[in-house]
Amino acid sequence: MKINHDIQFEDSKLKHFLNIKNLSKSHIIEIINRAEEYHNNKDIPSYSGKVVASLFFEPSTRTKTTFELATKKISADFINIDISNSSTLKGESILDMIKTIEAMSCQMFVVRHSVTGTAHYIAESVSKDISVINAGDGSNEHPTQAMLDMFTIKRHKGDFENLKISIVGDILHSRVAKSLIYALNILSTKEINIVGPSKLIPENYEDMNVNYFSDMDEGVDGSDVIIMLRLQKERMHDALISMDSYYEDYGLNQSRLKLANKDVIVMHPGPINRGIEIESSVADGPNSVILNQVSYGISVRMAIMSILFDNN
Ligand code: CP
Repeated sequence: MKINHDIQFEDSKLKHFLNIKNLSKSHIIEIINRAEEYHNNKDIPSYSGKVVASLFFEPSTRTKTTFELATKKISADFINIDISNSSTLKGESILDMIKTIEAMSCQMFVVRHSVTGTAHYIAESVSKDISVINAGDGSNEHPTQAMLDMFTIKRHKGDFENLKISIVGDILHSRVAKSLIYALNILSTKEINIVGPSKLIPENYEDMNVNYFSDMDEGVDGSDVIIMLRLQKERMHDALISMDSYYEDYGLNQSRLKLANKDVIVMHPGPINRGIEIESSVADGPNSVILNQVSYGISVRMAIMSILFDNN
């Protein structure tokens, strides 16, 4: 599917929130600043009467639930479309389903789908007064996750210009990694390392302004932030790597953590797989901010929704 990235803007303002790729630094800073206010319970707006519908064609715990909580905190209504029991099972197309929900006076759709570009496709098809948020499309982007990751780094580490950030694991299939790398570059991060077996690294990584390490010890050496990723087995069409050696080669354990800076923070978008990409004692240890990320997801999604409501 060919993606129109520019569809998320109207007069350079955000109308939809679909990708990080072509955001400006000021868009990202506005979201972070607004999220900080909401995190501190300051100036929380009310969008009473607005309706947000969630359309998750793939499983989710964190994203879907934090969108629901965020919607309630800004006093809007949230309807959760149960895809597994929806009329799509009777042959209704996604667009016909969208038009049906539109007819129930809904102003925002939050969409997750396994096919790249689905949220963009819906955004091109909805009425003018409706906003669409991409909650993850295939292996393309997961922009609200990247925003909560930026919020987490900003809160725990301050400015990006002085940071060395290592992203470890299945970069190739990860929509989280792609959105993250776009955002970190837009915020002028000093050094971005990607670490993993060569079969899980995109061929065009040299265009991404990152350093590639196949050796994890080298890749996390002196890092301020380590971001671990799950192996996206649902998007691997073949057995690309040996699971027997993956944890040994790329698992984050206590001895590898010691190679990073003393005050390194450990992040993971979740869901985590203990003993596959991360040792339990690291996931639950003092450097881990994995559960903070989940909590921040509420304020960040409140910020994104409020900007879209204000702009529409
Ligand atoms: N990080 C993330 O997208 O998690 P969920 O799949 O639980 O929403």
